[in-house]
Amino acid sequence: MKQSILALCACVTLLAGCSQKPANHPTDEPFRSVYHHSPATHWMNDPNGMFFDETAGLWHLYYQHNPFGTTWGPMHWGHATSADLLHWEEHPIVLYPDSLGTIFSGSIVIDRKNTSGFGENAVVAIYTQSELIGQHQSIAYSTDGGYTFTKYEGNPVLMGDIADFRDPKVMWDEKAQAWLMTLACQQEIRFYGSKDLKKWEYLSSFGKDLGAHGGVWECPELLKFTIHNSQCTMTEDKYVLLVSINPGGPFGGSATQYFVGNWDGKTFTPEAGKYADEKSVPWLDYGKDNYSTFTFHNAPEGRYVALGWMSNWQYANQLPTVAFRSQNTIARDLFLFIDDEGEYRLGSVPSKETMALKGAETKYLADCAVVELSLEGKQDAVITLSNAKGEKVVMTLDVHRQTFSMDRTASGDCSFSHEFAANTIAPLFIKRDMYHVILFIDHCSIEAFDAEGAWSMTNLVFPSEPYNHLDVQGGEAKIYEIDN
Ligand code: FRU
Repeated sequence: MKQSILALCACVTLLAGCSQKPANHPTDEPFRSVYHHSPATHWMNDPNGMFFDETAGLWHLYYQHNPFGTTWGPMHWGHATSADLLHWEEHPIVLYPDSLGTIFSGSIVIDRKNTSGFGENAVVAIYTQSELIGQHQSIAYSTDGGYTFTKYEGNPVLMGDIADFRDPKVMWDEKAQAWLMTLACQQEIRFYGSKDLKKWEYLSSFGKDLGAHGGVWECPELLKFTIHNSQCTMTEDKYVLLVSINPGGPFGGSATQYFVGNWDGKTFTPEAGKYADEKSVPWLDYGKDNYSTFTFHNAPEGRYVALGWMSNWQYANQLPTVAFRSQNTIARDLFLFIDDEGEYRLGSVPSKETMALKGAETKYLADCAVVELSLEGKQDAVITLSNAKGEKVVMTLDVHRQTFSMDRTASGDCSFSHEFAANTIAPLFIKRDMYHVILFIDHCSIEAFDAEGAWSMTNLVFPSEPYNHLDVQGGEAKIYEIDN
């Protein structure tokens, strides 16, 4: 047994550095990511209004943006596009605050049938306007493919009656043959329907007594999955409601919980007997730094391609970057699977566009890399990333507890917030003989995935020099350069 442990022990000393920097960013700094989207300058939080334009072959990403500073402030919608979800081109701001308030989070749909009267294929943004006396939903449309928007003169289209009334995510609901808006309203989600994106009718509410309630509910989205039996003779629709919460996440601060259930065109009904116990709430990601996840409207092949804001409100305003603050996660595809207990779970795998950045195999770990781990399922595995300064991130696959954890308490600079040092823990959900784990490392972030998507974990790290040493006890590692 001892011998086999030794045989499975891989230890690599790593030397090289990764010099690629995004060409479109005017400033270079140690914690600027290479293959993650970050704003050229100033503050960013939630991804907003994401959609795929199949004619141009472009992914559009808008985001919460304060163009006046590197901390949260008056919100605008910034804009970037990408052909591959890895290289992003920044464009001018599309939505500025006005007399109805600043521009909070929201979504975009392509109005193919001109239901709104703004024109066939108009790109319609639905977003929250926030002002001192409350929050309302407004709309704006673009007839140039999402580069410039005209605000609707009838705004707001949905008046708020409570303080937190925000983050509309709109989709087309086949069941009701109408637009469906999911909206976060303090401690619940409300659903509204519309035929034209302008007049909205209240449908139902969900969640007051279910799920985690340690903070305000934000950024909801309803996802529809079609399940097939093994012979593909029967299909069934299942729905997943994503609900971000802040604070109240499993490791403090922000996180995204989800509920599996059914949607009948009016009401969301969760799986019977689930979610009453806060401790059993499932999370989209078991790290500290993946918040307000949304998916791209109109993604190809009916996929759910998601991005999350790679930060946490506990310390987002204090992160040690200079000209900009915050970045988004890599793109992930979301899917539904059944775990060992027979429960539906929301899985995420790196999108195929993200996997395309995996370059040649190398012996050297650098400040950006993809690492593939094969971990023996019979014994615990410990994976350590470290540098010559003694800074390290320790990941443990605990086969008895059936967990994967990431300890960043000695990862580098944790001084900017006492909430930053943490050890995050994910349930494995599926017991395997061999565990395959993928790590995406990019200067100040580590995103860990079960290769089959049963769990994911996203954490920021701020080492004073890149981790250039990888030690794996109880498994093997392959390091790949970034093909950027
Ligand atoms: C989530 C959030 C949203 C809101 C936006 C404001 O991070 O608080 O609920 O619309 O950020 O910037």
